[in-house]
Amino acid sequence: MSSQASRSVTFRAGPGRPLQGRLRVPGDKSISHRSIMLGSLAEGTTEVSGFLEGEDSLATLAAFRAMGVDIQRPGTGEVRIRGVGLHGLQAPAATLDLGNSGTSMRLMAGLMAGQAFDTRLIGDASLTRRPMDRVAKPLRLMGALIDTADRGCPPLHIHGGQRLHGIAYATPMASAQVKSCLLLAGLYAEGTTRITEPAPTRDHTERMLRGFGYAVEVDGLVSAVQGGGRLRATAIDVPADISSAAFFMVAASIIPGSDIVLEHVGINPTRTGVIDILRLMGGRLTLENERLVGGEPVADIRVQAARLRGIDIPESLVPLAIDEFPALFVAAAAAEGTTRLRGAEELRVKESDRIQVMADNLRAVGVRAQPTPDGMVIEGGAIGGGRVDSHGDHRIAMSFAVAAQLSTGTIEITDCANVATSFPGFVPLGTAAGMAVVELP
Ligand code: S3P
Repeated sequence: MSSQASRSVTFRAGPGRPLQGRLRVPGDKSISHRSIMLGSLAEGTTEVSGFLEGEDSLATLAAFRAMGVDIQRPGTGEVRIRGVGLHGLQAPAATLDLGNSGTSMRLMAGLMAGQAFDTRLIGDASLTRRPMDRVAKPLRLMGALIDTADRGCPPLHIHGGQRLHGIAYATPMASAQVKSCLLLAGLYAEGTTRITEPAPTRDHTERMLRGFGYAVEVDGLVSAVQGGGRLRATAIDVPADISSAAFFMVAASIIPGSDIVLEHVGINPTRTGVIDILRLMGGRLTLENERLVGGEPVADIRVQAARLRGIDIPESLVPLAIDEFPALFVAAAAAEGTTRLRGAEELRVKESDRIQVMADNLRAVGVRAQPTPDGMVIEGGAIGGGRVDSHGDHRIAMSFAVAAQLSTGTIEITDCANVATSFPGFVPLGTAAGMAVVELP
């Protein structure tokens, strides 16, 4: 977690050769977090395969172990959780350190609000700057007692022993973390917790709750749960993370001669904005072998090189591609013409301010990029060599490793340790597919 992340890691990348072959990127981060949370609170033993062994999901795993849950890791990507039931968690002996992981903190805030004991949630420097009032405020409306630091930031002190009651709440921003936090608190609330979103966001919580036998009512932008039910253990096969696959989708699209297949990728329709946007830009992506795995749609995705062109990105696709914009900005830099993104102010409160940091870094390698309050305007053209700072943001680091494959010179990328939060093994997997990227000693 944070101790790992404080290591100083620098990548040197590019220029590369065409990408070839079949590869499977690590497991979905969102689903991995939820598998630990719901598995821990279920009755019986939950077996997980394809689990993401990244620092973020391992932070969630460590937190539930610290609350007395027996969680074994019998093999690579395998997790066995002996659930303790919704009321079986024990008070942790110490503060829970969630490292870089916003998903852990926001979803756990909802669960911890319903416990009989107090919890303190902390994170690393990046997480400590991120807004938690978006969950603390509605949780307080449900009867929770939560203290935050200044401006609604972590640490969070969540007081146990409060009686929660259901609310009807309209989330002010399209956020699956806020929706999920409140649905999870709703498991402990009296009556119905009903959440209305401004636009559809990832629905892994709703799908997985149902997988654990818990009724969730979904009607368009509204999802609701009743408190007082039970979760029954199940088996979970975590698909490969489309957000990690996205780096290879962009790389294979922009490097002439590339032709790859990304295997077993989750294609939940609330996550496929990156495919839609690349196709609108002229990308050649084909879904093969579509199937349903444990309630989540999965496919193998073939990506062939294409001449991309700039587009105005439809705002409706923003929440469906929210984590993929760093990679998509690189696609825009390699495209012919201008790409405009609007309605994406949420990017400013991710692991870094992804609008400012991407614009600064694109300019550092000679790309014309103009940040706006809620997006970016990028003129496609040549990408040069240079030095960029990923600001400890895993997705910024990997995006520039991709950009470097097409650059006229080498790109050096600093502060890359957090790639391990979501994509352990990025460098060897990228190298095997044909990317030129090394971690400097
Ligand atoms: C996530 C939701 C998104 C996403 C994050 C994971 C989740 O965050 O950016 O990486 O697992 O629910 P927001 O809900 O803040 O948009």
